[in-house]
Amino acid sequence: MDKQDNGIQTQDLEKINRILRKKLERCENERRQLETDMTTKEFLLKQVIFELEDSQKNLEQRSQELENTLNSLHTMQAQIIQSEKMSALGQMVAGIAHEINNPVNFIHGNLSHVRQYTDDLLRLIHLYQHYFPNPPAEIDVEHQTIDLEFLAQDAVKVLDSMNIGTERIRDIVLSLRNFSRLDESEFKAVDIHEGIDNTLLILQHRLKPTDKSPGIQVIKDYGHLPSVECYAGQMNQVFMNILANAIDALEEAIVQNLPLLINPQIRIYTSTVDSQWVKIAIADNGTGIPESIQKQIFDPFFTTKPVGKGTGMGMAISYQIITEKHSGKFEFSSTPTEGTEFVIQIPIKQNS
Ligand SMILES: Nc1ncnc2c1ncn2[C@@H]1O[C@H](COP(=O)(O)OP(=O)(O)OP(=O)(O)O)[C@@H](O)[C@H]1O
Ligand SMILES: [Mg+2]
Repeated sequence: MDKQDNGIQTQDLEKINRILRKKLERCENERRQLETDMTTKEFLLKQVIFELEDSQKNLEQRSQELENTLNSLHTMQAQIIQSEKMSALGQMVAGIAHEINNPVNFIHGNLSHVRQYTDDLLRLIHLYQHYFPNPPAEIDVEHQTIDLEFLAQDAVKVLDSMNIGTERIRDIVLSLRNFSRLDESEFKAVDIHEGIDNTLLILQHRLKPTDKSPGIQVIKDYGHLPSVECYAGQMNQVFMNILANAIDALEEAIVQNLPLLINPQIRIYTSTVDSQWVKIAIADNGTGIPESIQKQIFDPFFTTKPVGKGTGMGMAISYQIITEKHSGKFEFSSTPTEGTEFVIQIPIKQNS
């Protein structure tokens, strides 16, 4: 190989080298471009992921809010239905009390006159007997027939017992009026025992013996309670709900013929807890509440009763009345097949 050939080869190699360098440069540029593109895409992707996460969080929050709204709607619905039920009952009770009141007052008011007239007539008869000891035969026969001596004694007794009867009806009317207490929307210091007694009176017909039930015995173990500041109508509503449930549980126990149930009973116990709180406990020896459902008792619409019998709101609304409206405590304990005890504790004075 001569010198000229070598020169040509070197030139070719340099040319190839230049071309390769240029290619390398281009590749390097392309690589950089690609890298920049990748970073941009990665950034965009991260942004999208972040936005997605954010909107997922928003969605979760929204669905939580919706669930809360639904729950409070359920509670509100429960309250409305229950308060309508109670106000309908209150109105009916007040209406009946009003209707009975007038005729009973006629009878009661006139009984004293009847008593006076009877006494006057009997005195007059005695005067006749005194001054005309030998009446004609017809009067004598009539005297024997009506047994005047017995009639004179018994008429007074009949009038006395009618008086007691009408007084009892007047007491019942007063209790019904107190129970309905529709107009009271403020806290008032009331006699808790009176509220319980009025409620028991309304439920009296369910406590009496029938051909299917031996009757339910109510044992009142009342302590010395001061007047308690509360919404009287609402407290009566709570007593009504607890007592009605206790009666239901006892009736069910009678139907099921539970062996433990010797004597269907409701025991009402009241006491002061300290200088600021009172306690009311209402216990029955009915079916009891199975442990599996004990957590649900205060849930709105929870019921184990057949359709049409229970709406499942009595306890939910009572819980709300005691804990929220009266800042009290409402608890229960129950042993299945042995019975249940509900315990209410409320402050004697409410902080307004
Ligand atoms: N004393 C009790 N003994 C046994 N079970 C009870 C007693 N009190 C409540 N329960 C149970 O708690 C459930 C809920 O009671 P709640 O009073 O709220 O509703 P309900 O009685 O079924 O219907 P209503 O709204 O008409 O009162 C009842 O269905 C019952 O299963
Ligand atoms: Mg009930």
